Amino acid sequence: MNNPKRYTITAALPYTNGPVHIGHLAGVYIPADIYARFQRLQGKDVVFVCGSDEHGVPITLKAKKEGITPQQLVDKYHEIIKKSFSDFGITFDNYSRTSAKIHHDTASKFFKKLYDDGKFVEEVTEQLYDPEAKQFLADRFVVGTCPKCDYEESYGDQCENCGTSHNATDLINPKSTISGSTPITKKTKHWFLPLDQYQDWLSEWILEGHKKDWKINVYGQCKSWIDDGLRPRAVTRDLDWGIPVPLDGAEGKVLYVWFDAPIGYISATKEWAEREGKDWKPYWKSEDTKLLHFIGKDNIVFHCIIFPSMLKADGSYLLPDNVPANEFLNLEGSKISTSKNWAVWLHEYLEEFPGQQDALRYTLTANAPETKDNDFTWTDFQARNNNELVAIFGNFINRVVVLTNKYYDGEVPQPSNFSEADNTVLQELQLYPDVITSSIERYRFREAQNRLMEVARLGNKYLADEEPWKTIKTDEERTKTVMYVALQIAASLAVLCEPFLPHTSEKLKNILNHSNLVSEPQWQDISAKTNILPAGHHIGKGELLFSKIDDDQIQHQLEKLQASKKANEAMNATVDPQKDIITFDDFTKLDMRVGTIISAEKMPKTKKLLILQVDTGIDTRTIVSGIAESYTPEEVVGKKVTVLVNLAPRELRGVESEGMILMTETPDGKLVFVNPDKKNVGNGASIS
Ligand code: 2FM
Ligand code: ZN
Repeated sequence: MNNPKRYTITAALPYTNGPVHIGHLAGVYIPADIYARFQRLQGKDVVFVCGSDEHGVPITLKAKKEGITPQQLVDKYHEIIKKSFSDFGITFDNYSRTSAKIHHDTASKFFKKLYDDGKFVEEVTEQLYDPEAKQFLADRFVVGTCPKCDYEESYGDQCENCGTSHNATDLINPKSTISGSTPITKKTKHWFLPLDQYQDWLSEWILEGHKKDWKINVYGQCKSWIDDGLRPRAVTRDLDWGIPVPLDGAEGKVLYVWFDAPIGYISATKEWAEREGKDWKPYWKSEDTKLLHFIGKDNIVFHCIIFPSMLKADGSYLLPDNVPANEFLNLEGSKISTSKNWAVWLHEYLEEFPGQQDALRYTLTANAPETKDNDFTWTDFQARNNNELVAIFGNFINRVVVLTNKYYDGEVPQPSNFSEADNTVLQELQLYPDVITSSIERYRFREAQNRLMEVARLGNKYLADEEPWKTIKTDEERTKTVMYVALQIAASLAVLCEPFLPHTSEKLKNILNHSNLVSEPQWQDISAKTNILPAGHHIGKGELLFSKIDDDQIQHQLEKLQASKKANEAMNATVDPQKDIITFDDFTKLDMRVGTIISAEKMPKTKKLLILQVDTGIDTRTIVSGIAESYTPEEVVGKKVTVLVNLAPRELRGVESEGMILMTETPDGKLVFVNPDKKNVGNGASIS
């Protein structure tokens, strides 16, 4: 949309079951904040909303684990999360929560309207039920094998491995996460949003309408779901924590958390509008508003398929103009994991690096997982801070401020003749606002921040070339001109860095005394004028913009992560309980032999399976083994292994498997062979 009148910017509502970490910041909140700050700097009418996602199974499970009620849990984490966002300068206009009355009312009304308009299909279906816990199982109350990618720990509503969203009854080998038991099915009534009826419309709106402007990763996921064919999705659940279904005869049922959470964006806007004395409606209903959802990749289906279908079903709302979802950020080569404490928590970071929010903001943007998963490492963080922020940005500002104070008592000097070099630098500087704008408008925040750093590099190079510390001894007029030009670059940096490094921008504006100017320099002024810091203006004394991060600080962080790893290994080292006793006769039924893998290949279209040819001493046979995530085919050829040879043959993906290789698992999840330890034991030797 060109030239919208207003912007409604939403950032995914984080689940309130734990604090927020760097993955959250990098994936969602920093890009959203850069965008919102940038549009405000352009004088645009912006509402930027977020809030705590306080319903759903993750909350119930965590509350159970902590031995408190769900309400106590969300009250605790809501405050922690809110504070972290504010500490890192995320400028939400409203950070609400889905337990707020305004949200319950808004979500209930939304549901009721769709119900009254006949937009749901009401159906009694068989759902998974845990007879031990006496509870229906949906979403994270159940895990099982994903029907699409074979991942064995898929949740009932979504597979974290391949991102597919499905119904709990689609899972293969489902298991209750409450009791560990295998669920039975039981009849229950629910309301379904018939996504199949929106298939053609979604196809036209996304696949034809947004092919060019949506990110490839987002478009690709949408295309795959739409091409697979959409099916009705239940939007209610049999749970006791959530927003009650506002219908008679629906006691004990609540709205599905993914039905209520995105409506949270609307409730948060309403709450903000009430507080500000504004009308919320144009922000959600007026065609000249640009609606944007900033999210992580696991939320794409909900924001591109399900929520838009809900909005379309209502009929009075806008649809998102774009959903600039990011991929995931890893930490030191491994997936960030809350349960494994493999994370950098924002509140802990601030305790250890007080006042250094912008160093983290900078690194997370420089490494933002915009097009693929990316890795955060502490050494890279240190290098970016020390070699880029301190050595380039900080160094330039420091030189300008120190020299201006030293030579001119802090007064911006009067320039005389601009040399060709001066004019070139000033002209180049004037291009940067547009260059940065173009990257931000295309959601390329890494690129935008790189451009910003080019301005600091430009300043450094200019000073190094013109050497005012030398000319001061020979040519005072020339030195004044050089310092004047350098001061224009410094003042421009203060304005241009605001979306990315807000704390730095504030400090720098203070140092340069922007607020003492007749009119404070704005983004557009940098392109329009060459005197944004006019001669005669007084700047303040220097103050360190960035501080160096030492090796021992990094070492400490790495040690902390190592400690988490060790603690996890120790936790996972817990031994499975012994199985039921079997008789000696039972045991002798097992025919285990020593064998050698003589060839191996990957099973096409699977992640886990290898097709092995194994010499068992009896014969050479095919065995399909689920070890492909631990070994490449090349690694296993020639390996001596233990084979259960009289296991009934089984067909796996069209290949008959005649036996099983004995494996065990290391604490970090790698499968290893249970090997016969003597090289001179021949194939076919029995194991007894
Ligand atoms: O993935 C999550 O953390 C969800 N709580 C995001 C919800 S986004 C929205 F729809 F509210
Ligand atoms: Zn999957």
